[in-house]
Amino acid sequence: MTTPLNDPAWWQRGVIYQIYPRSFADESGDGIGDLEGIVRHLDHLAWLGVDALWTSPIFTSPMADFGYDVSNYTDIDPVFGTLETFDALIAAAHKRDIRVLLDWVPNHTSDRHPWFMASRGSRDNPYRDWYLWRDRPNNWRQAFRDAPAWTLDPRTGQYYLHHFLPQQPDLNWNNPAVRTAMHDVLRFWLDRGVDGFRADVVHLIGKDPALPDDPDDPVGSRVAWHYHPLTHEWLREIRAVLDSYPGDRMMVGEVNLSDNAQVASHAGPEQLHLAFDFTLTYAPWDARAFRESIAAVEDATSAAGSWPALVLSNHDVPRHRTRYGGDERRAMVAALILLTLRGTPFLYAGEELGLEDAKIPADRHVDPGGRDPQRAPIPWTSDPDHGWAGKPWLPWPPEPDTRNAVSQRRDTASIAALYRRLLRARHDDATLHGGSLELLDAPAGVLAYDRVGPAGRRRVLANFEDSPVEVVSEGSWRVSLATSRQREGEAFDGMLGGTAAVVLTPAD
Ligand code: GLC
Repeated sequence: MTTPLNDPAWWQRGVIYQIYPRSFADESGDGIGDLEGIVRHLDHLAWLGVDALWTSPIFTSPMADFGYDVSNYTDIDPVFGTLETFDALIAAAHKRDIRVLLDWVPNHTSDRHPWFMASRGSRDNPYRDWYLWRDRPNNWRQAFRDAPAWTLDPRTGQYYLHHFLPQQPDLNWNNPAVRTAMHDVLRFWLDRGVDGFRADVVHLIGKDPALPDDPDDPVGSRVAWHYHPLTHEWLREIRAVLDSYPGDRMMVGEVNLSDNAQVASHAGPEQLHLAFDFTLTYAPWDARAFRESIAAVEDATSAAGSWPALVLSNHDVPRHRTRYGGDERRAMVAALILLTLRGTPFLYAGEELGLEDAKIPADRHVDPGGRDPQRAPIPWTSDPDHGWAGKPWLPWPPEPDTRNAVSQRRDTASIAALYRRLLRARHDDATLHGGSLELLDAPAGVLAYDRVGPAGRRRVLANFEDSPVEVVSEGSWRVSLATSRQREGEAFDGMLGGTAAVVLTPAD
């Protein structure tokens, strides 16, 4: 069992909301979301009750990977706005007590970044060693296609390494000048007032200088294999930069490794503040699978002395409602679980509206990684344009006429209203945000756990099956939160409806 947190930091107590900026809200009329659009909808975030927002990359980019290919780390891409609009966004967010995190992409730049343009110019260019050039490539493969992770650059007759697209060359973090330059990027934005960062595929920055071949095994993520312990060293340097600023600046890292203990070992007082654990995104709709995932995260984070960072959906995986077969009640049960677990919940914009993935016709596919469906635009209103100034760059998700922010917020039985109640309860209740977690035995198909902390005990019961089930609990309990709103406030009679979940508080 874990111990309750004494004096949680904001990034432990809070809930963080991910915005995929192209798809959030368009004010300029070009059909692509922008910073003005985010400013315009900050009241939605305040209504929901989130503590911070994180935007996927907004820096200057040729958009080969929609912003994860950066050609200038210290400016805003014109499609999103300007540095002035960014300053206005920070000010408007801070006015509502919402912190702002940026997506820092440290493993690779765009092939149009001046560093790479210089590096590829000649073998003796001072920037040559900022990237990884070899006469003979090793056997590594790239992430999005079944193709080598190396491209021959005919100008100098050598290959360069790119874990992702050829337009995303990997930086050489073993070169101290690269590390200093990337630290300066952090300082640029910290000086401008950002509260922290999400660090993209940060497990890849440590690389074995010998770049050895992969084992000849076709199973598993090849990108994960290339993890090297030097990453810990680079993270300590990064942490020192963050710690040199006042005001609890933080970094959450995408550590996309399959071993929970290895993920957790990247977070703690000297490295990342948080490392995403993606286990829940792999769990099928099954109480036992959820229980195993939660146990794995609990074990790994308590052994490492780090705090969990939990995710159900993001811009890289199908939305969880879609993964669970499209049933909205399942999405509601999952929301109640995510927001009552021990660890910082990360929400992906639109999950609070119960959005499903969009169906994208073949002639509108744009993402090289096949992730368009989960990146569909957010419908804000039931008007024909759904609150967008221009025709969105991707098709709408299903049922935008009713499944939009205005309609959802108006309906007190909606999933959005449930998210709001859960966020408020988590915010106000020291046990829910900081308590320890105890997994309980439960009937088949039911996930049960207690949170124990300064405000007493809370019990969470979630029925993954469609038929009602009786769950015997000693003592008398009151339903404080429920996926069916009308149950809230009731004495708990031991019955759980089909595909439903409750949070219980001791009756006295
Ligand atoms: C991360 C991002 C993903 C991007 C990749 C390359 O996994 O989340 O969207 O394509 O890194 O930067």
